[in-house]
Amino acid sequence: DVQRSLVLVKPDGVRRGLSGEVLRRIEAKGYTLAAVELRTATPEILAEHYAEHEGKPFYGPLVEFMLSGPVLAVVIEGQRCIEGFRSLAGATDPTAAAPGTIRGDLGRDWGLAVQQNLVHGSDSEESAAREIGIWFTEL
Ligand code: CMP
Repeated sequence: DVQRSLVLVKPDGVRRGLSGEVLRRIEAKGYTLAAVELRTATPEILAEHYAEHEGKPFYGPLVEFMLSGPVLAVVIEGQRCIEGFRSLAGATDPTAAAPGTIRGDLGRDWGLAVQQNLVHGSDSEESAAREIGIWFTEL
């Protein structure tokens, strides 16, 4: 099925100037960019986006990190792009992420309270629909 997925270049990725590199990898893989917008999150958006992590020990630091600078919000499109982007992104922990992946090639552990792992990608069709609705109210 042709799917859409919400991808975020998190504040660490934008700060390090890796937005273009992430978009390049998405396009080189053959997915289409359906929407791209640089924006600063709000506590309200993050409460919705990270609802499933509320109460976890890293939740507070995660929200603080996500508010620390602009993020690049992207909607990508293509056959099985949800699984495909997660495969491009690599494992959550950038130290463990395989070389060849975004996190494996470009990320590392900075010894901070939250894993600053450069990108987010939706994990299911249900989350993708929910997250696209949160970040792009017009889509
Ligand atoms: P993501 O999977 O996009 O959404 C939840 C985020 O929380 C995750 O990326 C990491 O940035 C962060 N995270 C997840 N697990 C941990 C953890 N055990 N310790 C610190 N940060 C985490």
